Amino acid sequence: MNINSGAITYARENQKRFIEELTEFIKFPSISTNPDNYEGIQLAAHWVAENLKKSGCQQVKIIPTAKHPIVFAEYRPSLPAEQTVLIYGHYDVQPVEPLDLWKSDPFSARLDGEFLYGRGSSDMKGQIMACIKAFESIIRMGELPLNLKFLIEGEEEIGSPNLEDFLKVNKDLLSCDIVFNPDAGMISSTAPTITYGLRGLAFFELFIYGPDHDLHSGLFGGIVHNPAQVLCDTISRMHDLKGRITLPGFYDLVESLSPIERSEFGRLPVTDEYYLEQTGVPSLWGEEGYSPVERIGARPTLEINGMYSGFINSGAKTIIPAYAMAKISMRLVPNQEPSIVHRQFMEFLQANIPETVRWKLNVLTGGPGCITNRSLSQVLSLAKALEEVWGIPPFYKREGGSIPVVAEVKKILGVDSVLTGFGLPEDNIHAPNERLHLITWQRGIEAVIHFLYNLI
Ligand code: BES
Ligand code: MN
Repeated sequence: MNINSGAITYARENQKRFIEELTEFIKFPSISTNPDNYEGIQLAAHWVAENLKKSGCQQVKIIPTAKHPIVFAEYRPSLPAEQTVLIYGHYDVQPVEPLDLWKSDPFSARLDGEFLYGRGSSDMKGQIMACIKAFESIIRMGELPLNLKFLIEGEEEIGSPNLEDFLKVNKDLLSCDIVFNPDAGMISSTAPTITYGLRGLAFFELFIYGPDHDLHSGLFGGIVHNPAQVLCDTISRMHDLKGRITLPGFYDLVESLSPIERSEFGRLPVTDEYYLEQTGVPSLWGEEGYSPVERIGARPTLEINGMYSGFINSGAKTIIPAYAMAKISMRLVPNQEPSIVHRQFMEFLQANIPETVRWKLNVLTGGPGCITNRSLSQVLSLAKALEEVWGIPPFYKREGGSIPVVAEVKKILGVDSVLTGFGLPEDNIHAPNERLHLITWQRGIEAVIHFLYNLI
């Protein structure tokens, strides 16, 4: 009988209730980007605060920020503990559009076989609950000789704009030895993963303005430059034929990959076929000279996230649109700074957009990428925990997604993060029919139980 078995048994016996609690949490439409959604945000924040209290945190607070509140909770054992772990989560979720592609209501979680469908089930209400329920399972068996803090924010999906100030003002409250961040997912249900790098982000909106109103394309076609065409021409120049980004100086600070890291990347169980299956595309694309996992984890990219111009309803309307807009973002790797990339983008646009139109570039959000320290004792505790549950040592991977808090806590609190997660690539995060694989989730709860015990 080992020290964890009581908590593991408790977690297994209570799985049904844990799923019911997660279903309640998913009910609140906490879409952070939606400006008139304060109710969904508030309800989710209050619910998670209440759940932390019921699960065993002695101190729980909901702290307002300039936008969405942060939930902070703390557990302290009766005898002073040496180590403090801060568990990070975000209760906000992405928008649900296009709604007609959902097979069931995004906020009424639907159980179907091994899956729970709903917005936030995987990214990341499910991951938050895995941590809270692991904590509950442990302390129902007796005290845990660790201080735990929970920081659950409501703005991650919009780039955590108020987190930096919050961390600066609340340094003492948040003081800790390590941050545990379960927002980074895993390679597959059989491949436990520790993520040691994330990309940063620089997100922009580009507007191209042509005539001061939509024009009849017959009466004016041939004498004015169509802003939709200018937008497409400009975008088409942002990559060269080798898939490289053409902004001036864009790669100057990008570190090249070491042969050791490349051979490590090469051993990960992520082949071309894996990505073809994940995406459904007929063929992969990307920067020449790098494997898919290298391009995702360690190379910067530029994506068009959305475009709008002119008449897009059904039927025909013969116009030259007054303007065209594109949302364009870049995933950055360590050393690339969002503000420098902004300058490079401005330079590119100045050189490439003709004088036949006017234009404007808005900055929406941004943050740098990061690489975390793999040799910390807490990383080893997590590796051991993942092996205890999955029976194989974890894979170490750099991920292409962004989680602003990781670089922020390093910069402001001086604390490292340990990143993992129990979400799968096929969970449809940010997309219709987001889902959580419940067997993997249950293993995740058990892995967090092992991890916390391994830290002692
Ligand atoms: N959990 C994701 C990021 C992620 C997913 C990292 C899978 C690693 C593996 C997170 O919630 C997310 O989507 N972040 C946004 C952040 C952005 C808006 C600043 C992202 O990456 O687009
Ligand atoms: Mn997300």
